[in-house]
Amino acid sequence: MPAYPIQEHKFDVVVVGAGGAGLRATFGLAQKGLQTACLTKVFPTRSHTVAAQGGISAALGNMGEDDWRFHFYDTIKGSDWLGDQDAIEYMCREAIPAVIELEHQGVPFSRTEDGKIYQRPFGGMTTHYGKGTAQRTCAAADRTGHAILHTLYQQALAHQAQFFIEYFALDLIMDEEGVCRGVLALNMAEGTLHLFRAHGVVLATGGYGRAYFSATSAHTCTGDGGGMALRAGLGLQDMEFVQFHPTGIYGAGCLITEGVRGEGGILRNSNGERFMERYAPNAKDLASRDVVSRAMTIEIREGRGVGEHKDHIHLDLTHLDPKDIHEKLPGIAESARIFAGVDVTKQPIPVIPTVHYNMGGIPTNYHGEVVQLKDGNPDAVVPGLYAIGEAACVSVHGANRLGSNSLLDLVVFGRAVANRCAETIKPGAPHKSLAADACEKSLANLDRLRHANGSLPTAQIRLNMQRAMQKDAAVFRTGESLAEGVKAIRDIHASFADVRVSDRSLVWNSDLIETLELQNLLGQALVTIVSAENRKESRGAHAREDYPERDDEHWLKHTICWLDEQGNTRIDYRPVHMYTLTGDVEVVPPKKRVY
Ligand code: FUM
Repeated sequence: MPAYPIQEHKFDVVVVGAGGAGLRATFGLAQKGLQTACLTKVFPTRSHTVAAQGGISAALGNMGEDDWRFHFYDTIKGSDWLGDQDAIEYMCREAIPAVIELEHQGVPFSRTEDGKIYQRPFGGMTTHYGKGTAQRTCAAADRTGHAILHTLYQQALAHQAQFFIEYFALDLIMDEEGVCRGVLALNMAEGTLHLFRAHGVVLATGGYGRAYFSATSAHTCTGDGGGMALRAGLGLQDMEFVQFHPTGIYGAGCLITEGVRGEGGILRNSNGERFMERYAPNAKDLASRDVVSRAMTIEIREGRGVGEHKDHIHLDLTHLDPKDIHEKLPGIAESARIFAGVDVTKQPIPVIPTVHYNMGGIPTNYHGEVVQLKDGNPDAVVPGLYAIGEAACVSVHGANRLGSNSLLDLVVFGRAVANRCAETIKPGAPHKSLAADACEKSLANLDRLRHANGSLPTAQIRLNMQRAMQKDAAVFRTGESLAEGVKAIRDIHASFADVRVSDRSLVWNSDLIETLELQNLLGQALVTIVSAENRKESRGAHAREDYPERDDEHWLKHTICWLDEQGNTRIDYRPVHMYTLTGDVEVVPPKKRVY
């Protein structure tokens, strides 16, 4: 292997990723006086948070009665009881100050007549523990993520955080005792290597939606933090739970916000029927996402899909006032025109359930500290390592996330991790020395891939993986499809040994970067399908036709799945936190989940 010179940087904390969670953590850390670096592979305001449309949930009660305890209940029910109730309490209570903080920082929320933040109904959001409909999702038209991301970036700049833009994080640097000491990264523009030493490394790298063929996620959503965690020998949690958003544009995959249904949009089958009335008589089109996606899939399977191939569904807005569409949903009107060729005031939008969100990820507690099973302790903290946002599994979303709880998760846990680091890390504390070969393994991997001379181009392996995941880890799963999927993904994972990279340079080598991203995706695709095959029940987004019922007796537990260097997987479990943080709210015991 040639020598790879490494430039060393020392910070108190390094944040990897500059989406909503990464930026909220970054400026929170800088505000607390910690020397903070934020590494990001894309320019911060291009992070995938920019694509979030419908809004951020908080029980502000601006448009009718609401209470954070109702939000707590809805989130637990939405999670199909797999969410940790202490963390859910923390998130739903903190939602209110978090949104007010965003408002004060300058997020241009839409407004009510009397100047309050505008809130729309979203799926699964109710009042009085399932009895009424809550208007809880705070919106900036249908470009809420865009508005929040830009505001958070401005805050991070104002607080003097240091950005390392277009740096690709390669690996976590762990010491012999399992403490995270930093991260190794490649400056993609210059082709130089950088070791960021830190007392805390915060992974805010987003989800791995691109393991699938059709996803609302950006092409950059390759789960780089999860990939690094697996290579560091850490287990990932609840990876079998992959959310399909009911309304991705048919063919293109772009998101059409749930806010459309919140504003009165209706799903219709080929008979023009509002079929959700049959599946969720109360919530109808605003049932939670797993329920709606399954209903749409059943309609298509039973021959009531629309279009030439009867393979999608119509989302109808034609009865809405064009003025409301213009004011509240301008972005989706534009997307529908560009990507589906329809004028939403006159024609329905062709939609299909599309991969949207990973409920699983790097397990953490509600402070954002990464936890693992160790010596009988299910909540053992991995010193120096934190994860937030979609990269993490706190777990506030459990088996199914409610729409608009994601932007909330980003800001609440971005702030929580900054607070935790400020409590535990002394600014300017000296860094322990590292073993001379601390970066060797990561450099060897980089060098191997840079010079990879196999027979399979990266794009071919990626396509094989995406097709297999789309086919075998879909909205509905069976033991047979999952077993086939496990075999296919194991083979595809192994085929990575035969990858070919054609550009040997280190400067703007997009072939190499895509190969590193594929390595991250492959590890997560494998643990996802292995975890799905292993879980023999239906819960939230994991719908098994061979095990159609939820089975709390055997499966009310978090899956943890590890992957070793040979591609072997191992599974164990952590208990779900069936306790709250305070006496202000009571544990919600499992019951049948109907909408
Ligand atoms: O439908 C949407 O606007 C997506 C929101 C979310 O995933 O939270």
